[in-house]
Amino acid sequence: MKKVKIPVTRIEGHGLITLQLGDDGRVKEARFHVTEARGFERFCQGRTIWEMPAITARICGICPVSHLLCSAKAGDAILAVRVPKAADKLRRLMNLGQYVQSHALSFFHLSSPDLLLGWDADPGKRNVFGLLEAEPKLALDGIRLRAYGQEVIEALGGRKIHPAWAVPGGVRSPLTPEARDKLAAGHPEAMRIIQDVISLYEKGIASWQEEIATFGNFPSLFMALVAEDGTWEHYGGRIRFVDEERNVVADGLDPARYYEYIGEAVEGWSYLKFPYYRDQGYPQGLYRVGPLARLNCCDRMGTPLADEALARFRALADGKAVTSSFHYHYARLIEILAALERIGQYLEDPDILSSRVRAEAGINELEGVGVHEAPRGTLLHHYHVDENGVLVKLNLIVSTGHNNLAMNRTVAQIAEHFLDGREVTEGLLNRLEGGIRAYDPCLSCSVHAVGRMPLKVQLFGPDGELLSERSRT
Ligand code: MG
Ligand code: NI
Repeated sequence: MKKVKIPVTRIEGHGLITLQLGDDGRVKEARFHVTEARGFERFCQGRTIWEMPAITARICGICPVSHLLCSAKAGDAILAVRVPKAADKLRRLMNLGQYVQSHALSFFHLSSPDLLLGWDADPGKRNVFGLLEAEPKLALDGIRLRAYGQEVIEALGGRKIHPAWAVPGGVRSPLTPEARDKLAAGHPEAMRIIQDVISLYEKGIASWQEEIATFGNFPSLFMALVAEDGTWEHYGGRIRFVDEERNVVADGLDPARYYEYIGEAVEGWSYLKFPYYRDQGYPQGLYRVGPLARLNCCDRMGTPLADEALARFRALADGKAVTSSFHYHYARLIEILAALERIGQYLEDPDILSSRVRAEAGINELEGVGVHEAPRGTLLHHYHVDENGVLVKLNLIVSTGHNNLAMNRTVAQIAEHFLDGREVTEGLLNRLEGGIRAYDPCLSCSVHAVGRMPLKVQLFGPDGELLSERSRT
């Protein structure tokens, strides 16, 4: 029996991948386990809807903005108010800032070392520091782009993100003219950076063919919010499902009635549930969410440069759905471009300086669902409250949960292709990690646990004996 340990660091949260060999020496089963739960849903019982945006923003140190906005939306539904136009735009602006910073973090800091330095490069150098050495301009551009997204968020929510900037009924404060001017000044550079990086990615595609073919490349459903006219959405809209041909399987679904079309299966070996599309059953009803799904689901991006990029993305699959999860990276970059174009539009919109940003009301509904598209995918907060707005029951579904079945399928596909013999090699570990990382999972969010923990890969023989193990801490 061999035991080798190697640290894994570039994933948020923690997880365990187990590979089970059959008698024929091939991979019989591959599982991506998520092994810690903090019971956030239970913990929030007894709190009020006014406290929830701030509390849920603490579910995760990576995605506070996403939970803040989603919780405020669930609160809007319980107050049964129409959020003022300016507040709606300001929340959207913050979400777009979150797309830029979160996607930039994922691409530049976590994934580009693999893409640009190579999957078999020295692990000591295949990181953001190695990237700074080999591609200093690109690494610095990545840092600047992420900082721009953070500036958008801070201009609205304050330096440390006021935990209750978004509240049921609206937001606490508009953008100041000074903050808007500062964001406008930084906008052209951010636009230049993302266009350079998209060109760089498009040139790299030819050299990543083996990974594109095996990193979660399979037919499936895709789910996302789209606007009423089918345009790409990040905050409002209705749920659409498309299949691998980009045929619309279901459209105009009310996100507040998600439980009618999304089931949540439970497996004893993971704390993370396995959502599936009910019509197709479990586990056949596997669907993917997030950047790849949003680009496959929408009819258009709705801004000029992002629409040109979408046309090139579509050409990869002759207009059908792009089915390789490797291209989450491509979709993520195109979404940064779309987000920046929309940020540019908002910065010229006088509404964002309006002080009419909050609708006040009491408890008018005893149930409310908040849904929006977080950078990682569809995020859902479902609250049941009493007459005083105190939570009696809640359900959260996070993007990493929606992608759980797809991540498991991805791990199996990579293991089948890259496992050679009876050892978890460095090359296999890198690709398993890279395959998971394409989804940009937030395990902190999905198990509602705080902090970073390692990912471990274990290989078991036909009789259940541990043959090999690797992890990074
Ligand atoms: Mg849940
Ligand atoms: Ni998170």
